Amino acid sequence: MCGIVGYVGHRPALDVVVEALRRMEYRGYDSAGVAVLDGRGGLAVERKAGRLANLEAELDDAGRDHFAGSTGIGHTRWATHGRPTDRNAHPHRDATGKIAVVHNGIIENFAPLRHELEAEHVDLRSDTDSEVAVHLVARAYADGPTAGDFVGSALAVLRRLEGAFTLVFTHADHPGTIVAARRSTPLVVGVGEGEMFVGSDVAAFIEHTREAVELGQDQVVVITADGYTVTNFDGNDDVPTRPFTIDWDLEAAEKGGHDYFMLKEIEEQPQAVADTLLGHFANGRIVLDEQRLSDQELRDVDKVFVVACGTAYHSGLVAKYAIEHWTRLPVEVELASEFRYRDPVLDRSTLVVAISQSGETADTLEAVRHAKDQKARVLAVCNTNGAQIPREADAVLYTRAGPEIGVASTKCFLAQVTANYLVGLALAQARGTKYPDEVAREYLELEAMPQLVARVLETVEPVRALARELAASPAVLFLGRHVGYPVALEGALKLKELAYMHAEGFAAGELKHGPIALIEDGLPVIVVMPSPKGRAVLHSKMLSNIREIQARGARTVVIAEEGDEAVRPFANHLIEIPASPTLLQPLLATVPLQVFAAEVAQTRGYDVDKPRNLAKSVTVE
Ligand code: AGP
Ligand code: GLU
Repeated sequence: MCGIVGYVGHRPALDVVVEALRRMEYRGYDSAGVAVLDGRGGLAVERKAGRLANLEAELDDAGRDHFAGSTGIGHTRWATHGRPTDRNAHPHRDATGKIAVVHNGIIENFAPLRHELEAEHVDLRSDTDSEVAVHLVARAYADGPTAGDFVGSALAVLRRLEGAFTLVFTHADHPGTIVAARRSTPLVVGVGEGEMFVGSDVAAFIEHTREAVELGQDQVVVITADGYTVTNFDGNDDVPTRPFTIDWDLEAAEKGGHDYFMLKEIEEQPQAVADTLLGHFANGRIVLDEQRLSDQELRDVDKVFVVACGTAYHSGLVAKYAIEHWTRLPVEVELASEFRYRDPVLDRSTLVVAISQSGETADTLEAVRHAKDQKARVLAVCNTNGAQIPREADAVLYTRAGPEIGVASTKCFLAQVTANYLVGLALAQARGTKYPDEVAREYLELEAMPQLVARVLETVEPVRALARELAASPAVLFLGRHVGYPVALEGALKLKELAYMHAEGFAAGELKHGPIALIEDGLPVIVVMPSPKGRAVLHSKMLSNIREIQARGARTVVIAEEGDEAVRPFANHLIEIPASPTLLQPLLATVPLQVFAAEVAQTRGYDVDKPRNLAKSVTVE
């Protein structure tokens, strides 16, 4: 998610906060805002959609002298709930205007909390999940056991929140104090001389201090100019923290210590999958973000068309297996650039699922428009709130991977695959092809996947070594069956777009229909092995494929589940991944392929973030 900063000290807070937001612009955002105690018992707030320059222009118009205090907070938003507009930009204030909050992440139980506040006639002025936090703190501060206690009120509210959040509060009645908390999203303290900082990452304050403190899960920090105290959400200060000295330069800080954003984004994948799931299972049901399609409309669907480009298309191929298995609906997956020119058979009973990270890809947007012209219903799976494709769709499910800076898509692919599973479960739920308990069970299996993705990331060093060994290869082939086939295609695309190496993915069953002619001595072939717990026939046929190519000299690199001993004799290199449900395996098998491609590219001396000839979003046909 996006950028957060808090400051207490001897400098004008506005300058420190705005500069911090500028240093976090690289994280990608859609709006920005600041709140600064004005030194006269008030709180000055300004926020604006769009670039930081828009906010600065507003500050100039408002008069920066209103923002004279030395306590302030700031935010760059990547919208998850509510479009990127001025009214949804952070900071959000309570009704008194004395308390402000900025938030990174997702408050999963915001809906019941919102209803609770509305029942008390609290005027919620935004569409965000975040705003509930400040009204709850105001209510706790106004009345009850924590009345008048800023920190105590914040702790009481934090104990009620579910989801992933970094929250930073400031209160006009408590100048010189900022309260910040984290659960599953980043927050670090910057320790200065007579000044203290909190930030999403060290880029927020690295120019002022290199002494930092990393906070742990469910921890709260209260900062004043003279120091900081850390507790858990119960106020207990017997909690571990990790003081450290920042030895990165700013550029490295922006990349979390990695050489490239893409490498950081590969590491962010467990969080991207977890965040994409957050809030989509409530009261025993799958819920989409903007469900403007009723269950009856979903029941009326008799065919699904998935349209997308590139990596998003590959995520759609995975979706086909899951949706057909769970709903028994026929699913076609079509390249968006081909879709409307093939004159597809669509009608009111067709559901078109348009998958796009940017939400602006021209081919996909035109496919959406064609589908709507044909009266089909459109569901968008998108990573960018407020983009054109979700705006024109009938329903939306947002991936919550946060901004993806690297041109080659990694965390967004895993988030798209995750979101597509949710679409499949929502369809199965509406159509009754899965009972509620079966939907719940599948969702629980999905919830276990982020930890398994993290386990894969802990074991990929051998993949990097292998990549360096194979970096000079003229080509690499990728084989997969069933859900492993889209993974093979995605692995080949990563190698093409990052290392400029000839790479091709095949359905392994196609080998004998031509591609096996490509096999020659020493040619690396990466094989995505079906789960031995899945269809036994798929596993045994893939073993046969591996024997066939090895017999012709291929150097086999096999990605297989831990314990799949049958494959070991045929793998020149064995990359083991944790066992997982058959349909969910792409969330794990893809990760070594991303790491492999990135390492080959770096070995070849290429810029992993900005591959030649490519743009992050292709807004022309
Ligand atoms: C994937 O690594 C590429 N960046 C590209 O194939 C991308 O997936 C494709 O252009 C679709 O972009 P979108 O998801 O923003 O629509
Ligand atoms: N969920 C919050 C919103 O949509 C915060 C998003 C972020 O992390 O920037 O406003």
